[in-house]
Amino acid sequence: MSALRFSDTVSAKLADDILVVTIDNPPVNALSADVRAGLMVALDRAEVDKAVTAIILTGAGSTFIGGADIREFGKPPVEPTLPQLVARIEDFAKPIAAAINGVALGGGLEVALACHRRLASPDAKIGMPEVKLGIVPGAGGTQRLPRLIGTAAAVELIANGRVIPAGEAQRLGILDDLSDGALIEDSITAIRHAAMPSLRRTGTLPVPPETSESIDKAATEAMRKARGQRAPAEAIRLVRLAATTSLADALAEERRTFVELRDGEEAAALRHVFFAERAAGKVEGLEKVSPRGIETVGIVGTGLMGSGIAAAALNAGYRVIGVEQTPEGADKGRERIAGLLDKSVQSGRLDAAGREEHLARLTVSADAEELAQADLVVEAVFDDLAVKTALFQRLDGIIRADAILATNTSYLDPNVIAAATAHPERIVGLHFFSPANIMRLLEVVNCKRTAPDVLASALAFAKRLGKLPIVCGVTEGFIGNRIFSAYRREAEFMLEDGALPQEIDAALEAYGFPMGLFAVYDMAGLEIAWARRKRQAATRDPAARYVVIADRLCEAGRFGQKVGRGWYAYSQGRRSVDPEVTAKIEAARKEKGVTPRGFTTDEIVARLLRAMGDEGKALLSEHVAARPGDIDLVMINGYGFPAHKGGPMFAAGHR
Ligand code: 3HC
Repeated sequence: MSALRFSDTVSAKLADDILVVTIDNPPVNALSADVRAGLMVALDRAEVDKAVTAIILTGAGSTFIGGADIREFGKPPVEPTLPQLVARIEDFAKPIAAAINGVALGGGLEVALACHRRLASPDAKIGMPEVKLGIVPGAGGTQRLPRLIGTAAAVELIANGRVIPAGEAQRLGILDDLSDGALIEDSITAIRHAAMPSLRRTGTLPVPPETSESIDKAATEAMRKARGQRAPAEAIRLVRLAATTSLADALAEERRTFVELRDGEEAAALRHVFFAERAAGKVEGLEKVSPRGIETVGIVGTGLMGSGIAAAALNAGYRVIGVEQTPEGADKGRERIAGLLDKSVQSGRLDAAGREEHLARLTVSADAEELAQADLVVEAVFDDLAVKTALFQRLDGIIRADAILATNTSYLDPNVIAAATAHPERIVGLHFFSPANIMRLLEVVNCKRTAPDVLASALAFAKRLGKLPIVCGVTEGFIGNRIFSAYRREAEFMLEDGALPQEIDAALEAYGFPMGLFAVYDMAGLEIAWARRKRQAATRDPAARYVVIADRLCEAGRFGQKVGRGWYAYSQGRRSVDPEVTAKIEAARKEKGVTPRGFTTDEIVARLLRAMGDEGKALLSEHVAARPGDIDLVMINGYGFPAHKGGPMFAAGHR
């Protein structure tokens, strides 16, 4: 094979009469201007070279094409555009096969769909995740995919931005075949001995006929999850066009919609989230620090939080040692963890054999000495300073000298806990969110004395768990609970000033939160925050504004959904406004001499965003949070802030 180069990122080798073109644009072979130009030159060459009878297109490394280059969005367009490239591939006079060696996403899949056949390695993943960036496919995806798999299936994939494994893509009809090893050789063989017409142009195929019920069902299901975002609805509209409109007209409409969405606020917000996620967990100077090896994880306390952490660690392949105070407690802990694994089996995330294999890596005992085997011990016991300090002092005498100790405290000062131990440098905070085996967010607390390799190890552990780690410094409540407190405080001020819980909740839900603040309170239960407020009462600044309404509800036993009454009344799981709550709010206003006034939805949202943004600014200036994007990710992944608004810092203009 002789090598040919068409641009910095596109080269080819001639395998007899077949030109094997490779895109090499690390890290994900995104379709940058250089890649598009290089591919056009490759096509020019193949067009005129009589010795070339067909083309194979593939990617270097473990990716086929990760999509359009997101970094080019917002910059002036550079020709050739992706639609121009895609059209040329589809119309090309010689057969072109996509050899999909890894992920083919967005524009990457659109390029593959324009090819005349598609082979993939079995571990490839394909999808059109554009809606997750607030856009629709912009290079024919909404028109070519339904021609291959039908409108309902295309709606389901595109409007949800679902990425699927190669096997499923083959069953659906997106891929012609899978190749077990020699993908390029298999692609060459396939293109030489094509049973199908060698120039099968996807855009010329008819959309398979379907009932409108199946399409409506897929559309309704996708819209249910869209939470007011524009892109999924637009994607559905465009996919439906494939069956009713000429390819040229539908492609023009797709492009128009793509450009409009790409230049809009929702897409800007979701791009911010995308890049914030890639930056999260990166700490300056830490790249050069090697993490310690962690294979065995000790978990002290196997209640709700501890069992969730244990399930997450088992799912990630760790050996887990749970420790409880009594043998009965240990039995219960093991049952709780096994129960979480059962739920994973029920939901199809784990099979029966996987469950057994997970359980084989788990021991739960009442003997803390077992923790001598652990590389990392996470405590998930009652959030009380004396309890945690005593536990850590005891663990000091049990765990290995090189083992790491992590506290899962939500509100206590981990620096104080660390200072009470013999080796504060091996202590780090791991603030999980409940349910810990499901929630992606993990605040990794870099304490005053935490050693760099301990922090690096905590981050490596978080990543292996599949979590989104956000590094933060020590402050009461860390990033999330501090912002949440400011948000809650502002909501309660508005309550006292004249807004009602249902008005505040409706404003938040219209903004995109899955649930309003007061409905969330009711779900979580009001008594823990009440106990904390009572503990803090003695040290509270008497001059600071304090709203008593939540206390009044608790005093009346309104602890939330589980007792059928909280900020709302509950009957058979349905929430309704309760006049008793309104009366208590009015009484509290009267007590303080407040004349209530009305609030518009916009004012409610603006005040809450300002409160969160201001608290976020304080966290940045205190160096508790490193980047505005970190704060946004915490609120999106831990507190239901709508991703398509970019997070509270983005929404408040702190970018
Ligand atoms: N454009 C530009 N940069 C990209 C990119 C893209 N499409 N996809 C990933 N990157 C960058 C990331 O920002 C990151 O950069 P950094 O190292 O400087 O932080 C680097 O590539 C590696 O990314 P990940 O950390 O995410 O790497 P993984 O290996 O974990 O995942 C991936 C790889 C699955 C490709 C993942 O990056 C991903 O999902 N990317 C986005 C895919 C996507 O949304 N494609 C559609 C784009 S829109 C489009 O195609 C429009 C078209 O229809 C016209």
